[in-house]
Amino acid sequence: MITHENGVFLLQNPAISLLLRVSPRGLLEQLHFGGSVTLADARAMTSLVGPGWGCGILLEESDSESCPDVRPLAWSGSGRGDYRESPLELAGQSTDLRYAGFRIFDGIAPMESGLPQATGPAETLEIIMEQEGLGLKLYFTLFDTAITRRCVLENTGNSSVTIQKIMSMVMDLPGNYEMTTFDGGWIAEMRKHTLPVQDSRVVNESVTGFSSNRHNPGFLLSEIGATEDAGRVYGFNLVYTGNHYGAAQRSLQGLTRVVQGISPSNFAWELQPGGRFETPEAVMTWSDEGFGGMSRNMHTFVNQHIVPEYWRYHLRPVLYNDWEGCMFDFNQRILLNLAKKAKDLGCELFVLDDGWFGQRNDDKAGLGDYSVNKKKLPSGLKGLADRIRAMGMEFGLWFEPESVNMDSDLYRKHPDWALTDEFAPIQGRHQLLLDLTKPEVRDYIVENVSSILDTAGITYVKWDMNRHSVALGAKAHDYILGLYDVLGRIFKPRPQVLLESCSSGGNRFDLGMLCFGPQIWCSDDTDPIERLTIQGSLSYLYPQSTFGAHVSAAPHAQTLRTTPLTTRGNVSFFGCLGYELDLNHLLPVEEKEIQAQTALYKQYRRCFQFGTFYRLENGWQVTDGDITMACIFSGCRPAAPGYDYLRLKGLKKGKTYHFRSRPQTLRLGQFGSLVKHVAPVNLNPNGIILRTADKHLTLPDGEHTGTATGGALAAGIPMLPAFRGSGYDKQQRTQLDFGSSLYIIEG
Ligand code: DGJ
Repeated sequence: MITHENGVFLLQNPAISLLLRVSPRGLLEQLHFGGSVTLADARAMTSLVGPGWGCGILLEESDSESCPDVRPLAWSGSGRGDYRESPLELAGQSTDLRYAGFRIFDGIAPMESGLPQATGPAETLEIIMEQEGLGLKLYFTLFDTAITRRCVLENTGNSSVTIQKIMSMVMDLPGNYEMTTFDGGWIAEMRKHTLPVQDSRVVNESVTGFSSNRHNPGFLLSEIGATEDAGRVYGFNLVYTGNHYGAAQRSLQGLTRVVQGISPSNFAWELQPGGRFETPEAVMTWSDEGFGGMSRNMHTFVNQHIVPEYWRYHLRPVLYNDWEGCMFDFNQRILLNLAKKAKDLGCELFVLDDGWFGQRNDDKAGLGDYSVNKKKLPSGLKGLADRIRAMGMEFGLWFEPESVNMDSDLYRKHPDWALTDEFAPIQGRHQLLLDLTKPEVRDYIVENVSSILDTAGITYVKWDMNRHSVALGAKAHDYILGLYDVLGRIFKPRPQVLLESCSSGGNRFDLGMLCFGPQIWCSDDTDPIERLTIQGSLSYLYPQSTFGAHVSAAPHAQTLRTTPLTTRGNVSFFGCLGYELDLNHLLPVEEKEIQAQTALYKQYRRCFQFGTFYRLENGWQVTDGDITMACIFSGCRPAAPGYDYLRLKGLKKGKTYHFRSRPQTLRLGQFGSLVKHVAPVNLNPNGIILRTADKHLTLPDGEHTGTATGGALAAGIPMLPAFRGSGYDKQQRTQLDFGSSLYIIEG
């Protein structure tokens, strides 16, 4: 609900509230953002507003409250006495926008520039600010677990102005905070870093042209001492795929100024008289249930308001992707053989990745061309897709439409379509970007991708993009608007096509891309131990339904680490499950394990994909109604293991739950000469008997079932003892390094 009373605005629902006040000088103040407050609370809070101290410049000499530098503000100018970070900078001029009116309405304020935004039930407050020659509309939209903010700047004067910086939101929060950001690079996305916010600015920014794997646009502010389950934590994110900027800095008065928007680095946008500029939408949430509570608010928001309507809570298929198994080296026979195997293992969708078109036999050629490589696929895409559908699987396809290789027919015909600056072209992965600011380039992509989707009956698209940009500032923003235009024109008329975006893995894991397709490829690093970090960090800001999570081969291509197949499965369960490895190399015991994995995942898919997510001390938990799935990840095994506990969250204390561990198996071969500990007879570890037995036979491991109250499960119940040189016992966890135990708990 949004209410207005004497220049005070309260946005409030049971989860969150925001309190704004128009000051006597027309500044927009933010008196509260956080837990739910009522109108009566708001009245009391408003009456307690004092003048602030440490005033420098007064907007009105006689009014001690008119010092912009010390007020808690929800908007501010530049060059007019607020010396904290400004949300708006115009070349060569100050800005001093003051309150001029408001509107409250149901729903959202639709974007006019093509930027994506949150949709669904909501209520919006529009605050109108003005100064001579400029109008500003600030939009505050109240959703169930988050509030979004954005603004529109209008040139109401007679001469053009240049926007050098315009943030989507600015706010001042009382208190001391730490800022958590998620940084990294290719195959090392989402490293979590936390810094104290003090008097120097802490910045989270990307200037690669995209939201980037270097610094995810989402960041957190937590009060000092906040934990996973307690303490006040704010979450911020941006519905945008381009360069972004977020920053926090504490003032002498103890207010933390927070801003978020498009990166101002090299940004310069010419706004002609009558022109308007829309910022992307910033998302803000809050919880006093620690990082976990904040994450769950973000998850609900993304699942309900960001991903395309068709895919909201729509179950995702188990897929097989041929990339890590084949790379560029395949033909129709190889693919059909893999498809048959994938189907037998329980996959529902077959995805053909890179290499199906033009002269694309490695990553040096062919990007930009859409003609199917008939040498590899003599019956074309439709022929292949039809055969795969006849096996009972859907067919999906990889595209990288934004890029071009210089060795391609497209580049030879239209070298001017590549995105360049005044210097010689610079390549990334042997490719250039296409200039999506050009309508003819966008039309080329839309026509080609659409016609392939329609003729081959494709129901899934992996939309890849494998380099950073060269475009700066305004051009980078124009590119992103071009990208959104292309995505909208292809996928809005085809809502049932499942779009998974990808950018060298997680180089564009952002809410902008999620508005067009409900899932994103998290990383080219599919080693499950690395994925614990990557998916674990993503879980702060994004729900598990958005994670493309695949089981791949061990030893792993990026780390050379060997991990149990069960753990590879268990990690991928907490996302949209897929398999990406050469299925011809699987042993019979591995095939059986994968069949069991896909069967279990399908049975509990709703819980895995859309259940309420909890980060546990040593694992992850999802709960959907009476069903809970929890996985404990063991890491490196110590020689003398201590007690491990299954400690769950969010269950009903007095209720009784049955729990059971997912049947796990042990391969005989993994014990080498110690096989005598686990097998009834003493076998030569290098002999044919053990080598053959290893392919076909397994031993049950870690069988644990029982009944416990929610209270006991919250306090923690002891797990089965771990192997400690203790021989074989199926009621112990005889796990190797990086083992894991998945529990199914039913109320
Ligand atoms: C990068 C992606 O992240 C991979 O999954 C794969 O699709 C390759 N591109 C293909 O070139």
